[in-house]
Parts: sequence; C-alpha cells; structure tokens
Amino acid sequence: MNITYLGHACFLLETSGAKILFDPFISPNSIVQELRKDSSDNELVLKLDADKIECDYLLISHGHEDHVADAESILKRTGAKVVSNYEIVSWFEVKGVSNVHPMNLGGSCEFDFGKIKYVNAVHSSVMPDGAYGGNPGGFIIEADGKTIYYAGDTALTFDMKLIGEEFKIDLAILPIGDNFTMGANDASKAATFVGCNNIIGMHYDTFGYIKVDHKLVHETFLKNGQSIDLMSIGETKEI
Ligand code: NI
Ligand code: MN
Repeated sequence: MNITYLGHACFLLETSGAKILFDPFISPNSIVQELRKDSSDNELVLKLDADKIECDYLLISHGHEDHVADAESILKRTGAKVVSNYEIVSWFEVKGVSNVHPMNLGGSCEFDFGKIKYVNAVHSSVMPDGAYGGNPGGFIIEADGKTIYYAGDTALTFDMKLIGEEFKIDLAILPIGDNFTMGANDASKAATFVGCNNIIGMHYDTFGYIKVDHKLVHETFLKNGQSIDLMSIGETKEI
C-alpha cells in the first residue's frame, strides 16, 4: 500500500482495492502551486494537479476550506464516493454529488476495499459558505492487513487512548502545526496514546500561523523515543 503527500492535510492512499483521497486542498495551496510552477519533474507536476487526480473514495474530516477546497470538482469529475459526516455529505448532495456515504462519530462501515471508522476529533467544522459542517472527525482505515489512523484537525484528547486499545495502528497521520491543532509536543503524546511509532506529520507550514521548525519537530519526537516523517510534497512511500 502506498501513500502520497499532496500538501497540508491532503494524502492519497492507494490500497490494493481503492484509491482513497483525504481532505483535498491543492489548487488554493500556494506552496503546492509554487512547487508545480518551479518543477521540471513532469510526474510531480501531474501528481499535484487537482484536475487530474484519480480516486475512488474521497474522505473529508471536517468542513473547513483547507480540507474541502477541491472536493466538489474532484467528486464530479471522478465520480468518487464522498465519505464524511452526515452534514458534510448532505452539503455535497445539494451540490449535485450523488455517490455519497454519510457516517457519524463512532460509526464504522465495510467498503469494498476495507473498513472505515469515523472517530472523534476535538476541533470545529463549518462549510466554506457558512453552512453547518457537523462534528469534526478523523478516520481509521483498515485495508490490506494494515490499520491507518488519519486524525484530521484535532487537539490532543484522551479519547485517542481508546483508539490504541481497539486497534493496532500501523501508521498515524497527525497534525503538528500548532495554533489550530495539536503541536508537535501534543502530537507526540497522541502517538503514544494510539500506540504507534510510525508517524507522518500534517497541517503545518501552509500558512503563517502553522509554520514549524522541522528540526525542533524531529527533536520533540526523538525525545520521546519516536520518529516522525515530514514527507516532501508529492513524495510517495510504501506503508
Ligand atoms: Ni480545520
Ligand atoms: Mn485545517
């Protein structure tokens, strides 16, 4: 199974049965767009093209613009199934998206590629047009014998201990940018709570409020005997 970082909180997870895209914020992400403009690597330029990305499922953690910006166009072009909370899914339905699967916190469901559980996140959620965005969440994905925790935008919460009790997490994708979500210190504790030492950081550097010192982030995790991967935008790795 492969994972590709598409900037901010956006990842493409490729399982044997499906391509799963998380929280697409690509075309308005100036870091991604500058990278595309300056790159002579055609493969990278294509990977980061919101108008070309292929996926079978689009998972949305909550309604904020930096998580849904490219969702409508990708859903309409690809016909991918949108999976999110009931309110967000309904919002897309009104916009003419018909391949939908609403969930709510604590619920899990089997799909053709594996299983998704929609779990608690401590944050807020409103759609870009001001519509109610339901409760924010994260996702646990079980596919190809692996279990992945995508935390979404969240504070550190004791609830994460329950995730560690219920699942053997093989990969934890955690926000580290501070200000709007956990910072590195709390994210390191979150990794301990979920019992995972294979960590990818997200939700950092995109805006002024969430710029982080990468060296300091690595040191913070190292201090607790952990290591975190701050993937390059466009980088793909095997899980
Ligand atoms: Ni948010
Ligand atoms: Mn966000």
